[in-house]
Amino acid sequence: MKGGYDHYMQKEINEQPDSVLQTMRGRVKFDQKPKAMDPSWDPYHEKRITLGGLVDRISTIRSGRRIMFIACGTSFHACLACRQTMEELAELPVSLELASDLLDRRAPIFRDDMCVFVSQSGETADTLKALEYAKERGALCIGVTNTVGSAIARSTHCGVHINAGCEIGVASTKAYTSQMVALTMMGLALSEDSIRLRSKRNSIIDALGVLPDQIREVLKLDAEMLSLAEQLKEEQSLLVFGRGYNYATALEAALKVKEVALMHSEGILAGEMKHGPLALVDELLPIIVIATRDRMYQKMLSVVQQLLARGARLIILCNSGDSEMKEICASGGSRLIKVPETVECLQPIINIVPLQLLSYHLTVLRGYNVDQPRNLAKSVTVS
Ligand code: M6R
Repeated sequence: MKGGYDHYMQKEINEQPDSVLQTMRGRVKFDQKPKAMDPSWDPYHEKRITLGGLVDRISTIRSGRRIMFIACGTSFHACLACRQTMEELAELPVSLELASDLLDRRAPIFRDDMCVFVSQSGETADTLKALEYAKERGALCIGVTNTVGSAIARSTHCGVHINAGCEIGVASTKAYTSQMVALTMMGLALSEDSIRLRSKRNSIIDALGVLPDQIREVLKLDAEMLSLAEQLKEEQSLLVFGRGYNYATALEAALKVKEVALMHSEGILAGEMKHGPLALVDELLPIIVIATRDRMYQKMLSVVQQLLARGARLIILCNSGDSEMKEICASGGSRLIKVPETVECLQPIINIVPLQLLSYHLTVLRGYNVDQPRNLAKSVTVS
């Protein structure tokens, strides 16, 4: 059942090269070779995305007032990671709602809202209630689930199955990366007609093509993450700093550490560092900084420098071959986690993998139950 692994979480982390491929299978058309003399061949449409469950709704979604992502836990983090991608590709306002908070506030939802409900199990009580609430208000409800026939899959008007395969460990790992792939594909499907976005779309589709191999590559960091976990296993707390696309990575990594390793951990938006969190920084508290090369890189470099100036104990997640970061960190004695580079909207998919491995090893070393953390259920069917 565990396919030679000790725990389901470990198996599911290692399945990700395949699970993301399954999410894309039959939906992403990479390069199409022009047939000689074929007059119907359109060079601009050689790379395309077809989401069977959404094809009839694409123009309705495009004409909506806004896209609203609604989810809980890790699924919410997947929405957060993909918000900017969706804003840039669909060119619509995108709002994010934790299902419980949306219900607590009875937030306004309108007939021309496009509500996207993201849930691995498809049975989460708050997400399901928020779905009923949005339906009563006449919004188009789109499901992004991993469970065919689940309540959310059945009750939404249309949707996308992420096809990540059964996830048994309470900690969501492969569903998270597949949710991000599915939401990115949705953004690509919504932008298909945009000439302005064509080259951006093509580079994302190219990057999706090599994503499984890049995840395979990053899984090789397992031994390194075990040695980092050895170093951190007695700690009381672990902070994770990120911003932009990787704010979600910081929150998700901290959730994994909390949930399974039962260690206090907090994901922090690096832009908020000086508004409070900086007071926590000393020579003892371990801090992971996510500083891969994207639009936020220069700002993250400056965060690293400011933390190092305060003697912080840093673990920096950066891209392989980042000599600038290597140089800055050499003097501070920081530890580097080096990951392959991809387009910025897919980088969170690569970046979370070593942090999933870290939380897995921390849990084993601390002697806690990996697949069934205390007090938690895989599917939260009561609010
Ligand atoms: O099944 P769902 O995606 O709706 O579940 C939502 C959360 O309960 C879930 O992601 C939870 O946060 C995970 N156990 C985190 O690993």
